[in-house]
Amino acid sequence: MNRRQFLRLTGMSATGLLLPHTLLARNAGLDAAVLTLRPAPATVNLVGAYGDTDAWAYNGTVPGPEIRLAQGATLRASVENGLPQDTTVHWHGIRLPNAMDGVPHLTQPPIAPGESFDYQFALPDAGTYWYHPHTSGSEQLGRGLSGPLIVEEVEPVAADRELTWMLDDWRLEADAAIREDFGRFHDLSHGGRIGNTVTINGALPDGLDVRTGERIRIRLINAANARIVALNFTGTEAWVIATDGHPVKPFRPERNRVVLGPSMRADVLVDITGDPGSRLDLIDDYYPGRAYRLLELVHAAAPLRDRMPERSRTLPPNPLAVPDAATAETHTMTFTGGAMGGMHTAMLDGERLAVRELARRGRFWAINGVAAHGHQMPAMLTLVRGRSYRLRLRNETSWPHPIHLHGHVFRVERRNGEPLAHEEWRDSVLLEARDAIDILLVADNPGDWMFHCHIMEHEAAGMMGVIRVT
Ligand code: C2O
Ligand code: CU
Repeated sequence: MNRRQFLRLTGMSATGLLLPHTLLARNAGLDAAVLTLRPAPATVNLVGAYGDTDAWAYNGTVPGPEIRLAQGATLRASVENGLPQDTTVHWHGIRLPNAMDGVPHLTQPPIAPGESFDYQFALPDAGTYWYHPHTSGSEQLGRGLSGPLIVEEVEPVAADRELTWMLDDWRLEADAAIREDFGRFHDLSHGGRIGNTVTINGALPDGLDVRTGERIRIRLINAANARIVALNFTGTEAWVIATDGHPVKPFRPERNRVVLGPSMRADVLVDITGDPGSRLDLIDDYYPGRAYRLLELVHAAAPLRDRMPERSRTLPPNPLAVPDAATAETHTMTFTGGAMGGMHTAMLDGERLAVRELARRGRFWAINGVAAHGHQMPAMLTLVRGRSYRLRLRNETSWPHPIHLHGHVFRVERRNGEPLAHEEWRDSVLLEARDAIDILLVADNPGDWMFHCHIMEHEAAGMMGVIRVT
């Protein structure tokens, strides 16, 4: 069974794109509410007529409930582990205190089955974020654990409506069951666990009803284990207004494509410019030769308006410390390993091992010559709190890697020596094979922070480190 067959047999309507429910509204009073998140096995329907899927889900839904709070509010969540194994919750992209970061053994003990852990932290920045486990990521995300976390601006940009699209990728059997081949060496050493079914908000997308003249804000979140997406908005007028949650000077993406590696987000303002009554395919064409239709925009016969109103697309900025490129100290982080990579040895648990021996132990990747084993490890780099740094990320592998830093937001400065065409603030940056990317940040959040590839299988196979801010 392939995606095309899925698409033919299911008739998800546009309403299928809406999230099951929103747990917290941004209204006053709810700031103090404690949200209960219960990750546990659940039966969900991802693929319509093909059958139900036994997944792992937060509060029984895939994705988990959309958490929505106002900027400056405090998020309080009690996580009750209903899974048959340890878990934690990481609040991806939020600049929070280290003890709330949800990294097992490094920032908290893992939450054992039947136990719970309370998270509580303020939300300094508005934007599009998400939450997911930080234990056995390949399996726990691969079985469906993740959910959107939206922090609303005090003054949002004007749009006719707003959608959250959580993109996920599943490896399913013909009967819609999740394929139980987690940890396959081929996935670990190549492009990760790329699936055969892409869902938006836990369902096969089909058509989205739109109206000519409409302006839609879409919050895109790539929650896949490994699949990189390039949403091609040709046929509309799309502007990127935030990257990884953070407002940027609005720009038209290159060739109308919004490229998101796993964990990356974009807020896109889409002006519907197609003819009334027409249909437009929205395709994902990241992998050459493997483009597919993600969904279809179905234009109503009657336009909403004739002309787009002149309204600002600019979001109010987040309170980020601006790094000083002139005084920033530079550190190089080199990524090696993988198939066709040319890595010869790496350190694992303090021992220098040849690549064959590393592979025997399920380790295929290294950062600065060290392959990680679990989350508890000495820091690979110590930064002084309040100073500016430039991290020179060098991908010496034949594979793309979305590299994520916890607890901080950075500005992407250069790609392969060239300054970026657009402003980008991020917590994850996609390095294509052999890319070198410079990022700039102020180390303003004390603690031990994970720095890793967000392809879950690469993370599991060693592409992970710790950066300490003191
Ligand atoms: Cu989205 Cu280390 O995580
Ligand atoms: Cu990677």
